[in-house]
Amino acid sequence: MEFDLKKLLRTNILNLVPYSSARDEYKGEASVFLDANENSYGSPLSRNYNRYPDPMQQAVKAKLSLIKGVPIPNIFLGNGSDEAIDILFRAFCRPGIDNVILLPPTYGMYEVSANINDIQTKKVLLTPEYQIDMEGVAEAIDEYTKIIFVCSPNNPTANSINRSDIETLIANFSGLIVVDEAYINYSRQKTFIQELTEYGNLVVLQTLSKAWGLAGIRMGMAFASEEIIEVFNKVKPPYNINEASQQLALEALNNVDQVNDWIRELILQREQVISKLIELPFVLNIVPSDANFILVKMVDPLGVYRYLVNNGIITRDRSKVQLCEGCIRITIGTPEENVLLINTLMAYLKS
Ligand SMILES: Cc1ncc(COP(=O)(O)O)c(C=O)c1O
Repeated sequence: MEFDLKKLLRTNILNLVPYSSARDEYKGEASVFLDANENSYGSPLSRNYNRYPDPMQQAVKAKLSLIKGVPIPNIFLGNGSDEAIDILFRAFCRPGIDNVILLPPTYGMYEVSANINDIQTKKVLLTPEYQIDMEGVAEAIDEYTKIIFVCSPNNPTANSINRSDIETLIANFSGLIVVDEAYINYSRQKTFIQELTEYGNLVVLQTLSKAWGLAGIRMGMAFASEEIIEVFNKVKPPYNINEASQQLALEALNNVDQVNDWIRELILQREQVISKLIELPFVLNIVPSDANFILVKMVDPLGVYRYLVNNGIITRDRSKVQLCEGCIRITIGTPEENVLLINTLMAYLKS
């Protein structure tokens, strides 16, 4: 399928002259910076944050590039992947005219971001096995469809979406396919970030909020062709990643081994929790999980949810969500937290 980025972009974005910051205009080494109206005296803190941060986050991207095996020009960093999702709408979708395809049950921000930007959403429910209804998607696509959002592993169902279906979509759709891989580190499936050279219409989202344990610093990533990343950079606020987050990310990215140890441990814990839960008579089903959470179908989900809350354990009630009827979503915690969860559920049984 022919892919033409210029045709897909909103005309105002195609013609946009981006803001040029003080740090964009002077890049050399200097000792006196009187160009950005900062406070040259410092910050009232033990560490100084009086200077604007690197707008392009070169140091963080250089480390990520090594870890991910993706060149720097193919990486965008956002204030969480939620910022990347919002930029996709603002750059590619004309309010009141264009639409995107969502595959519910899925991550809720795609719809919220679409609504904020006044973009119609066409929903094609996943199949009962939580896979893509390929015929339904083909029928839903029209000339105004700009983006299809695929979340894999999917939140809240925890399973991965069949790779061949995603490939079929990428190869046959003239708009963008966004593959949200927030939970990819826990998955048996391979990431799509190695396929960027093959597919010009692919955008892969990842985040430091999950396996990297950095939800608090707000850093998400989009991987795509250079020309798509240029669009992101044009539209983003100039200093979208603050200096403290950049410094903390740089520090954290040195600790890949710690993160990999946690991933291995979490997957072991996930399988243990599943094996314990499935023995409970009120647990009806657990979707095979490729993520750091599980979707559990129960006889009385609200009763269980409330019992857990009363015992200080918060899970996510998804029982009102279409195709998740009877389900609560449970994040896998530390071994101690998981034992507490199982013991509390056993106590619920006796209550
Ligand atoms: C599928 C999915 N994508 C993206 C996000 C948001 O990530 P971030 O913290 O990078 O904004 C989440 C968070 O729960 C998620 O589940």
